Amino acid sequence: GQVDDVQELQRRLCSATVPERYIRDGDDRPDHAVVDDERAQERIPVIDVGELQRGGEDELDKLRLACEQWGFFQVVNHGVEEETMEEMEKAAREFFMLPLEEKEKYPMEPGGIQGYGHAFVFSDDQKLDWCNMLALGVEPAFIRRPNLWPTTPANFSDLKCSETLEKYSVEIRELCVRLLEHIAAALGLAPARLNGMFGEAVQAVRMNFYPPCPRPELVLGLSPHSDGSAVTVLQQDAAFAGLQVLRGGGGGGWVAVQPVPGALVVNVGDTLEVLTNGRYKSVEHRAVASGEHERMSVVTFYAPAYDVELGPLPELVADGEPHRYRTYNHGEYSRHYVTSRLQGKKTLEFAK
Ligand code: SIN
Ligand code: FE2
Repeated sequence: GQVDDVQELQRRLCSATVPERYIRDGDDRPDHAVVDDERAQERIPVIDVGELQRGGEDELDKLRLACEQWGFFQVVNHGVEEETMEEMEKAAREFFMLPLEEKEKYPMEPGGIQGYGHAFVFSDDQKLDWCNMLALGVEPAFIRRPNLWPTTPANFSDLKCSETLEKYSVEIRELCVRLLEHIAAALGLAPARLNGMFGEAVQAVRMNFYPPCPRPELVLGLSPHSDGSAVTVLQQDAAFAGLQVLRGGGGGGWVAVQPVPGALVVNVGDTLEVLTNGRYKSVEHRAVASGEHERMSVVTFYAPAYDVELGPLPELVADGEPHRYRTYNHGEYSRHYVTSRLQGKKTLEFAK
């Protein structure tokens, strides 16, 4: 069915009512099991990529622990230019501020994953997220849908296919490659082991815009899910800590990822959980809305080529240790992922 544009909805709501389809059931509401922010801040690891590049052993240990215990960390000295990040943020924000008719020139097809609209909506009784998104495939070139790359505002795209997004994507891709080298090293593998098996890696970007909500305590910005990627790199604005991470498989509650100026948030995706036979965790996360602040995030998913066969790496499965995942084709998993609603870690049951 037809899904409302959340920014339009927010503009039209004069009373404090939110349509029923956005109102979550009790346990799914955002105040459920939230850990206070102060404790969270000191606990989500911040990794210095410059130090990793210099061969810092302590930093590599920190990375290993972050991947094992959190599935999430923030990176500083990550090599992505400040200016590149600012321009991407500005372009994305300007896009979301366009009138709806302009944004609707890049429509996400129902059940599709690219363009402007609501992804992961498959039924009329499904709860909806308080979020608008623009999602675009970037690499390899064959996944690009140039007709969905906005041509307004001017700095977002032009006939050369968006210098801003292009530059951003190149720098983020370099970071992903570097991070996967360090992640391999932290696992005791040759640094090129993961990148080497990924082939022509897939890179996609999703920009999320969360307008303020009159009843933030009743809605979710983005439903709980784990990412289907190998790694995800997220840029968030500083106004409001809307991203929350599930700690300890749920036992630790939801922890907010406090924005660190200039940092990027990185998380382990399903692919790395499978390759490491569960040693590294693809952790559930969600976004909450604010009553006062709008929030934006620019999220890059980095994953193996679709034809890669994935399963626990033999080097990482000890003698006698059970294989927690089967071997499967990554393209098949990607299709399964984009045709499922966001549902915590259920999507990964495909690989069991
Ligand atoms: C995501 O999980 O894709 C985005 C969450 C956020 O906006 O921080
Ligand atoms: Fe995510």
